[in-house]
Amino acid sequence: MRIPFSRAPLTWEKAAPYLQRAIDNGWLTTGPLVQEFTKGLADFLDTENVVPVSSCTAALQIALAAADLKPGDEVIVPSNTFIATLETAELHGLVPRLADIDSATWNMSLDSAAKLVNSRTRAIIAVPFAGNPLPMHDLRKLADANQLTLILDCAHALETRFDGQPLHAYADFSCYSFYATKNLTTAEGGALVCAADKTERVRALSLHGMSRAAWNRYAGGSWRYDIIETGYKANLTDIHAGLGLAQLADLRQNHQRRLELAKRYEQALGDLPVKMQQLPETAGATDHARHLFCISISSESKSDRDTVIAAFREKSIGFSVHFIPLYEFSNVRKLHGFAAANFPANEEYFSGALSLPLYPTLTDAEQDEIISLLQELLAYGAAASV
Ligand SMILES: Cc1ncc(COP(=O)(O)O)c(C=O)c1O
Repeated sequence: MRIPFSRAPLTWEKAAPYLQRAIDNGWLTTGPLVQEFTKGLADFLDTENVVPVSSCTAALQIALAAADLKPGDEVIVPSNTFIATLETAELHGLVPRLADIDSATWNMSLDSAAKLVNSRTRAIIAVPFAGNPLPMHDLRKLADANQLTLILDCAHALETRFDGQPLHAYADFSCYSFYATKNLTTAEGGALVCAADKTERVRALSLHGMSRAAWNRYAGGSWRYDIIETGYKANLTDIHAGLGLAQLADLRQNHQRRLELAKRYEQALGDLPVKMQQLPETAGATDHARHLFCISISSESKSDRDTVIAAFREKSIGFSVHFIPLYEFSNVRKLHGFAAANFPANEEYFSGALSLPLYPTLTDAEQDEIISLLQELLAYGAAASV
């Protein structure tokens, strides 16, 4: 791909010293580099309560367990998210209820979510889609008014803020992803942020339910340990943490570049028949993590999405679609019977959804090429298909 959809903000020069340390100390798995990476994350996220894990999916599983959710409990999930948000709830025996999205922010509509609350509802899992904050005071109020646990799937939202605070400040459990395409990547990895009095349990759940003493094994502690509850195998390794450490120092600068590129897209595409993601009214432009830049091509455009995709392929420019709505998947329909007709805002967004390349090393010239192609294809006029 000449202009790939995603490029990890990682170089061999920056990663090599950390990988060398991880290998030379002979340990490889959870050890000093994980500790150092966790400290860096804690500084960035402005909290001590960070538990590193092997993926965001693992963080979600652990959050559901640590929230004491029980089979049969209902949980509210947005329709426009990655399957992990739903599957972890299914595997935990929960009954998912899908909320439609807000037609401007493309995040979960709080009105839609509020309508799903009933006496069996126990939690909301909200997803700051593409890195866009939700109106967190309102979301927190909705959770508190109904005594619901608020879990955030922050896979896109490492840098996202709202009203001056990182998003985890408003939630009970916040699950981060360091998957290969994310703003900071460890290839595979994640982290869970929760209240201080929950971190020991979360840490135990991430490693077979082992007590703290077992964790100390890694730092030369006692051989004796207890299993305090049934847990997962979801610890992060020093090799992965080394990759993450190599990016921490550039995180703020990389975010600035993402903001800058997003602004350039917005300015250049503003007169075309495409919808772009709006921030909530109460959020500021820099509150968005700008993990993804998604557009929705309107039916007034000269070209439909298939035509645009064919042109991107021909020019070797990467693209993606975020997301295929959960209710579209055969397994999800079979299990829960969700019908597209109940999600009009998501349907409208998805009909023209396209994600454009956005990463710190995308050059102005590369972006200009993408913009020119879109300007050529997306002027007003009857949609043409390939
Ligand atoms: C919204 C969302 N949630 C969860 C995940 C899963 O993250 P991980 O691969 O770290 O488990 C992703 C990954 O792309 C995602 O986009």
